[in-house]
Amino acid sequence: MPTSLKDTVTLHNGVKMPWVGLGVFKVSEGEEVVESVKAAIRNGYISIDTAAIYKNEEGVGQAIRESGVPREELFITSKVWNSDQGYETTLQAFETSLNKLGLDYLDLYLIHWPGVDKYKDTWKALEKLYKDGRVRAIGVSNFLIHHLEDLMSDCEIKPMVNQVEFHPHLTQKELLAFCKKEGIQMEAWSPLKQGQLLNEPVLVDIAHKYNKSVAQVILRWDLQHEVVTIPKSIKEHRIIENADIFDFELSAEDMEKIDALNQDSRAGSHPDTMRVGF
Ligand SMILES: NC(=O)c1ccc[n+]([C@@H]2O[C@H](COP(=O)([O-])OP(=O)(O)OC[C@H]3O[C@@H](n4cnc5c(N)ncnc54)[C@H](OP(=O)(O)O)[C@@H]3O)[C@@H](O)[C@H]2O)c1
Repeated sequence: MPTSLKDTVTLHNGVKMPWVGLGVFKVSEGEEVVESVKAAIRNGYISIDTAAIYKNEEGVGQAIRESGVPREELFITSKVWNSDQGYETTLQAFETSLNKLGLDYLDLYLIHWPGVDKYKDTWKALEKLYKDGRVRAIGVSNFLIHHLEDLMSDCEIKPMVNQVEFHPHLTQKELLAFCKKEGIQMEAWSPLKQGQLLNEPVLVDIAHKYNKSVAQVILRWDLQHEVVTIPKSIKEHRIIENADIFDFELSAEDMEKIDALNQDSRAGSHPDTMRVGF
């Protein structure tokens, strides 16, 4: 079990990815994103998850430079947006992201959503970027088992990560088992279901028992399922709270109680019907 924000899981290519990072979806470009990322890094975070579509990569880059932490100690993820899928367009999108971030490499680059018919060409571009040393690891996001099977039947390099919606209302049991079997690291987006789980009575009870907050219980549940997690907050006290999850352990019984909250319900889109931008 990880014991600090600096602890990492080793991806199947040997690259070490932090178990906990800061998400910046819906964080405004400019002061808001700069201050949140700087607050996270100041409090020990080393992993930041952004995407071209979040339109805040410039601020993320500014915060990285202003943090004073050497680039190589950080783990920076971005994603190719749906409208840029395809081989050449993905290569261009990667350069644009890198320029906005002001970086000369990324730690992880993901296909944001599968869409229907372009993700194999997009993946070839990610394989090229990886082989050229522009990115240390490549992966996908919002891929279901059938997308992964289809991609893996054709690809040269297996995705290292699958970033998906994952929280107590969407426990993704089969997908998680599949990813574990294949050596693909699962990563939770909207781990707090965008704030919709904080008053869930079972979680409130468990939180009292461990003298922790509901958010901390959920994030700890992620770690005990061996899922990387990237909660978003723009508030420094919550950024600190969300990282204070290394000093307690949920019992097997409480893990099961949380698992039993599953409703297969999503805060975001379903990967099979998500067509925005395609
Ligand atoms: N790949 C994808 O398709 C995809 C999709 C969605 C998200 N993501 C990534 O996953 C990250 C996390 O997901 P998310 O931003 O959608 O939602 P989330 O992390 O589940 O929840 C964020 C919300 O919870 C609040 N919050 C955070 N910590 C809290 C705490 N300790 N107590 C109470 N409230 C708290 C935040 O408010 P404040 O900011 O006001 O504190 C915000 O409203 C994103 O930022 C993004 O990087 C990826």
